[in-house]
Amino acid sequence: MGSVPAQWRSVIPHLGYDLPADRAPHRTTGAPVQVNLPMSLARQQVGQREFWDIPEPVLEAYRRYRPTPLWRAVGFERAIGAKVPIWAKYEGGNISGSHKYNTALAQAYYYKQAGVRELVTGTGAGQWGTALAAACAQFGLACTVFMVGSSLRKKPYRGVLMRMLGAEVHASPSGLTDISRQVVADQANGLSLALGEAVQYAAAREGVAFSSGSGETYSILHQSVIGLESIEQLAEQSATVDAVVGSVGAGSNFGGIALPFACAAAAGDLAMPLLVGAESASTPKLTRGTYAYDHTDATGSGPMEAMYTIGSSYAVPDSHSAGLRYHGAAKVISAMRAAKQLSATAVHQVEALEAGRLFTLHESVLPAPESGHALAAAARIATGQDAEHRCQEGVLVCVSGHGYLDLAAYDQLLQGQLQDERPSDEVLAAAMAGLTGAVNISRLQVTA
Ligand SMILES: Cc1ncc(COP(=O)(O)O)c(C=O)c1O
Repeated sequence: MGSVPAQWRSVIPHLGYDLPADRAPHRTTGAPVQVNLPMSLARQQVGQREFWDIPEPVLEAYRRYRPTPLWRAVGFERAIGAKVPIWAKYEGGNISGSHKYNTALAQAYYYKQAGVRELVTGTGAGQWGTALAAACAQFGLACTVFMVGSSLRKKPYRGVLMRMLGAEVHASPSGLTDISRQVVADQANGLSLALGEAVQYAAAREGVAFSSGSGETYSILHQSVIGLESIEQLAEQSATVDAVVGSVGAGSNFGGIALPFACAAAAGDLAMPLLVGAESASTPKLTRGTYAYDHTDATGSGPMEAMYTIGSSYAVPDSHSAGLRYHGAAKVISAMRAAKQLSATAVHQVEALEAGRLFTLHESVLPAPESGHALAAAARIATGQDAEHRCQEGVLVCVSGHGYLDLAAYDQLLQGQLQDERPSDEVLAAAMAGLTGAVNISRLQVTA
């Protein structure tokens, strides 16, 4: 059912405004970062082109696991009392266990073409690290991964899998980088610290490049295969949806499934659905954050981006949805939120894992806790419990990954030991206090 798209599709030409330009950082710790992004990725980062050919070697790798399944989740619908159909698009069926492989393959391919010999990255839940390790193995690159230590301890098999794929894996804080030696281990800022370590590690080595996970504009472009396939697969079933939901870490699976709908709507091919990002209530950047210039990682040495953020210094509480423990949202997602072209909702982990449990029971697919957030948000919409997001025709939800390495989290759910973490207003205000150069949202006028 469906086919693998030959081109990625970008929403940038349809935004109706320019994305706010990045700014040079005004505080640095450690060495300046050398940005050695391959030209192909740099072009995709800023280009106004809508359709981008997928290179044949990447396409060949995609064909081994794409198109991914899309089905009507009738059992889940019944279990939650849905009033409209729920369509699930499953991205957990590749070696990495998540959507991250879609961009990892493209990034590894472009870096290899540019003459890089090793890629370094930071990873939260481990899906991104696994995806990059697998993609590097495909294209003959070495790979080093800094994984959030608390996650690695909870999911040691993620580390084993990455090492099987040829990667070197370090628990962050690792003690190998300046930034990791500066933090108190227990207060480590999750993913942004792991990313900061990777930035410093790569900057100190020849022929080694930092590959940032999923929030980049080009990553969201690569993830458009999810939405493009979904549009075709829904049309094959004569189905329409008026809400599209994905979980938000940095925003790539949500952008991947949702933004092709915005493109198709702009082209007059379908009616614009509600686009709803489901974030973790413990890192609520889109629902409680501010739209400002902030750092993308804890070193503060990379460019500052206009983003919805709760502050890159915010000590993200531990949770089972490590992939959502990121302080900011991608700049495209953030700008579209500021311009009211998409919406968001926050979900606590107990509700997310309960949605994941029901989906497992009734659909025979075990979702990652991150995907549980999207399922919970989809359930609220489909049952009419979400007063802000109403729909009549159907909900499409991205089940971004599998939860086979997250069974400890489900075990805690079953034992009634799982707790929610909601940062207080005071804590968030303190984390955002240092942010300067707030973005003038009114300048993001939608002209189209
Ligand atoms: C299974 C899964 N879903 C969702 C996410 C969120 O990432 P993003 O917002 O970049 O798509 C992650 C990140 O690690 C993940 O592993």
